[in-house]
Amino acid sequence: MKNGYILELRNIYKSFGGLRALIDVDLNLRHGEIIGLVGDNAAGKSTLMKIVSGAYRADEGKILFNEEEVQIANPKDARKIGIEMVYQDLELCQNLDVPANLFLGRELHSETFFRFLRKRNMEKESLDILHRLKIDIRNPRTKVDKLSGGQQQAVAIGRAVSFDPKIVLMDEPTANLAVVEIEKVLELTLRLTEHNISIIFISHRLDDVFRVSDRIYVLKHGYMVAVKEKLKTNKEEIVKAMFMDVEEQESLQQ
Ligand SMILES: Nc1ncnc2c1ncn2[C@@H]1O[C@H](COP(=O)(O)OP(=O)(O)O)[C@@H](O)[C@H]1O
Ligand SMILES: [Mg+2]
Repeated sequence: MKNGYILELRNIYKSFGGLRALIDVDLNLRHGEIIGLVGDNAAGKSTLMKIVSGAYRADEGKILFNEEEVQIANPKDARKIGIEMVYQDLELCQNLDVPANLFLGRELHSETFFRFLRKRNMEKESLDILHRLKIDIRNPRTKVDKLSGGQQQAVAIGRAVSFDPKIVLMDEPTANLAVVEIEKVLELTLRLTEHNISIIFISHRLDDVFRVSDRIYVLKHGYMVAVKEKLKTNKEEIVKAMFMDVEEQESLQQ
């Protein structure tokens, strides 16, 4: 390995009609690293991650995985490479239980007897995933709509991890959660790195970003305007990068 990056985005451009959502964006993710990706509403955070997850295609630019260029034309391509995204709206089935959600779209349509066996297997594997990630859900047969917001977020993360990914992209995983639940999701995020997973963590909550990230990238109006080592920056500096024009920042420094 030469540069230690598991993922490199180079010169990414994306427009929607006349709207330029991403302009010449670069981003590097190290092995085992957690990156925080921040920016005001409509900065382009979700769009950038959707390009990596195969939901969108970039107009221009390169994606490298382990230093080799890869083509990610759809979510299947991303999954094959080892990239999973946990979307902001979670994409869980509220009226199904935890195993059904963890294995959604992967249950085989087999004969009744085998279906019964598979169901038992799914439950066993689900318990295993919950246990491995120390996710606190006592009864996996609970329907997802009966779980708390934090538990639902954990199920969505567990589902991503069940594909054995190398990279997990998390889009606002702590939005709309109670304080105690936020802490649990942050702990779960940190725990994923123990399973050899590198993470890009999108959030508008800077406290959360500072808690989990090693480095912080700042998008503004489609431009990547800053990247900082967490230990060498502070919230004030990040907020400035998020909201101020370059001229404004320069005039402040004089
Ligand atoms: N599918 C789409 N069609 C048209 N415009 C889009 C689409 N997805 C995102 N955009 C636009 O791209 C810009 C960036 O959006 P997004 O990546 O969702 O920002 P963020 O996640 O930082 O809030 C916004 O102006 C948004 O309206
Ligand atoms: Mg978004």
